[in-house]
Amino acid sequence: VMEGEPVNVNEFQELARQALPKMHYDYYTGGAEDQYTLKENVEAFRRITFRPRMLVDVSRIDFSTTVLGYNISAPIMIAPSGLHKLAHPEGEIATARAAAVSNTIMVLSSMSSCTIEEVASSCNAVRFFQLYVYKSRDVSAQLVQRAERNGYKAIVLTVDVPRLGRREADIKSKMILLQIKNFEGLSSTKVDNDDGSKLEAFAKRTFDDSLCWRDIGWLRSITKLPILIKGVLTREDAIKAVEVGVAGIVVSNHGARQLDYTPATITVLEEVVHAVGGKVPVFLDGGVRRGTDVFKALALGAQAVLIGRPAIYGLAAKGEYGVRKVIQMLKDELELTMALSGCPSVKDITRSHVRTQHEKFH
Ligand code: FNR
Repeated sequence: VMEGEPVNVNEFQELARQALPKMHYDYYTGGAEDQYTLKENVEAFRRITFRPRMLVDVSRIDFSTTVLGYNISAPIMIAPSGLHKLAHPEGEIATARAAAVSNTIMVLSSMSSCTIEEVASSCNAVRFFQLYVYKSRDVSAQLVQRAERNGYKAIVLTVDVPRLGRREADIKSKMILLQIKNFEGLSSTKVDNDDGSKLEAFAKRTFDDSLCWRDIGWLRSITKLPILIKGVLTREDAIKAVEVGVAGIVVSNHGARQLDYTPATITVLEEVVHAVGGKVPVFLDGGVRRGTDVFKALALGAQAVLIGRPAIYGLAAKGEYGVRKVIQMLKDELELTMALSGCPSVKDITRSHVRTQHEKFH
């Protein structure tokens, strides 16, 4: 049992567990099938160690950075995740305010429990919008146009969900879907299936599983916003993404909720970074729970990371304040890691500051 304020992300997870009904906690925390990847996303970070440099002036640490030209206070953004009202009554509005106060970017999920417009008018900040492409191209186009009209600065196209992964906890609990708000009034997106996970039923009915590379051209044709592609895990797809003109790549396995036995994202980051060759920025999400994890991702070539579950744990435990606290804890840990590694700014963090498991010499 914990005394007083939580001091790290794992303690926030425990508070979230205590605060939430089991079905909701399981929805947030779970992964697909055997949850091999779920464990690996976190474990793989632990196998990377540091090569810190001494006697560097670290009296001033600056971990601010830029993403698509926007300044943010730290290389830590909020990943898109659905249904924040199941975690806290204020839902995505609380998350968005926490991101704004923390001076970082939130990516709003298409599957949010507050609308694109509600989140946009809740506070002033740079925000991105995450898109799934639906069988109805009209529905997708309308979402993109609403995001653009409401001042979102980029579209984050998630490409790893032609179908929903098997999340067995949700199947057992018949995870209900009362709160997706962006689709109200669109009859093609209604769900009335009594068996298994409602989320799975929704995805099956509505997500376009024929989406392919040439459709990125269609998406580019309907918006002026830059497009980030989320869910790339191989050099092959990284090269294609650059070819079709995306503005950035998010290395992600969807927080281990889609294809089980994909590798931990941190273990494929370098492959993608190398293939991209600096043409567009590369981001990473999955398993980031410590400032040391953020540092490791930067050392292996990420421009910034995104956090999924940690933000939700903060939200569930303490609302907007909790999300702010989670971001602040990660910033404080990153700052200390930079100081102890001899890196006063993010551009000082290099490949030679970390050691992966099999490297003997660098
Ligand atoms: C997600 N994720 C996600 N991704 C996406 O593109 N659209 C979405 O609607 C969702 N929804 C969602 C819900 C929940 C509950 C979780 C945990 C995750 C994936 C998310 O953006 C991100 O890739 C992972 O959460 C990153 O891993 P960590 O930080 O949770 O380990």
